[in-house]
Amino acid sequence: GLMCKIGPSILNADLSDLFSESQRLLDNGADYLHLDVMDGHFVPNLTFGHPVVKCLRRKIPEAFFDMHMMVAEPDKWVNPIAEAGANQYTFHLEAAEDTLELIRRVRETGMRVGIAIKPGTCVESVLPFVDKVDMVLIMTVEPGFGGQSFMKDMMPKIQLLRSKFPDLDIEVDGGVGPNTIDLCAEAGANMIVSGTAVTTSDNPRHVMSSLRHSVEE
Ligand code: DX5
Ligand code: ZN
Repeated sequence: GLMCKIGPSILNADLSDLFSESQRLLDNGADYLHLDVMDGHFVPNLTFGHPVVKCLRRKIPEAFFDMHMMVAEPDKWVNPIAEAGANQYTFHLEAAEDTLELIRRVRETGMRVGIAIKPGTCVESVLPFVDKVDMVLIMTVEPGFGGQSFMKDMMPKIQLLRSKFPDLDIEVDGGVGPNTIDLCAEAGANMIVSGTAVTTSDNPRHVMSSLRHSVEE
C-alpha cells in the first residue's frame, strides 16, 4: 500500500522565523512542508508567495515543498512558483478556468500536480481529472485560516476516491491533529497536513510522533 506521509503546515507558525520554524518541523520528523499561499481573493486572508518560497528553498535545499495555492488565478503563479523551487503545485478546482490546460502547464514545469476541493465542492467534480494529477487534496476546513475545527463529514469524499483509485495520493488538510488523524487514515488519506496542532504545541516532536504512530498502525 501507499506510504503515509506527514506534512505540517507552517501557516500558524511564527512566520517572522519561517526558516527556523520550517527546519524545526523537518528535524521533528516532517516528511514534507505544506506551504499555504493565500492571495486575499480566493480566500479572505493573505500569506506569502514565490519570493518567500525562493528564499526558503535557498536555506532548505532538499525538503519537499507542497504548495497549497489558495489563489484566484492559479495559472498566473505556475512558473514563478516552479522557478522558486517548489515540488508540488496544488490548485483549487474552484479557481481553475481551463483545468486540463492548467494541469498540463504545471506538469511541464516538472512539478507534481495536485488538485484541491473545498468542503462545499462535491468529490464527483474532481473525478474527470484524477487520472491526470498526482494528488487530490480534500479540505476538511473552509480554506483561509488555521486552527479551525475538523469537518469529519468530508471523510466519504476520501473513501470514494480511495475505493476508485487505490494508488492515488490523497491529502487531507484542515483541523487534523492527534484526535482526528485516525479518521483520516481510516478513510484512506495518505498525505496528512497538520498545522496548529503541531506548530502551536510546546512539544511538536511529541505531536509529530503521535501523528506518525496513528498512521503506521
Ligand atoms: C487552511 C490551510 C491549512 C491550514 C491547516 O486554509 O490550507 O493548511 O493551515 O492548519 P490547521 O491544521 O491548523 O487547520
Ligand atoms: Zn493548506
